[in-house]
Amino acid sequence: MAEQLPYSEKVMDHFTNPRNVGEIPDASGIGTVGNPVCGDVMKMYLKIENEIIVDVKFKTFGCGAAVATSSMVTEMVKGKSIAEALTITNNAVAEALGGLPPVKMHCSVLAEEALRSALKDYYKKQGKPVPFEDKGHAHEGETCL
Ligand code: FES
Repeated sequence: MAEQLPYSEKVMDHFTNPRNVGEIPDASGIGTVGNPVCGDVMKMYLKIENEIIVDVKFKTFGCGAAVATSSMVTEMVKGKSIAEALTITNNAVAEALGGLPPVKMHCSVLAEEALRSALKDYYKKQGKPVPFEDKGHAHEGETCL
């Protein structure tokens, strides 16, 4: 019998066929976040027009769950307003993927952080104050395996 994978079909789909991979050369905001424990790195590029995320691309050097959550988060924020994008939590991303194994939940936090970091960069480039708070470190109280 084939070994049961701990990942949902959706996770496997986004991992093997990630959406929106790449860079945006004239991005409005770029966010890079890293997981200091496992060394995984996620970079997110946003193109923003009139407070709407018109394009988003990412590059993730990391585990399968990190790739899948980055891919899913790009699909979730594309075409959304900044305010809507900020309501997307890592739990919502994991849910949209049909769930993640508990030891992999921290990987989804990386995707949420990359998005917020890119939005922060956008406000900085605009010379505007960042209108949201930092959520704290991704791995607080969590073990990265
Ligand atoms: Fe490092 Fe998933 S983000 S193991």
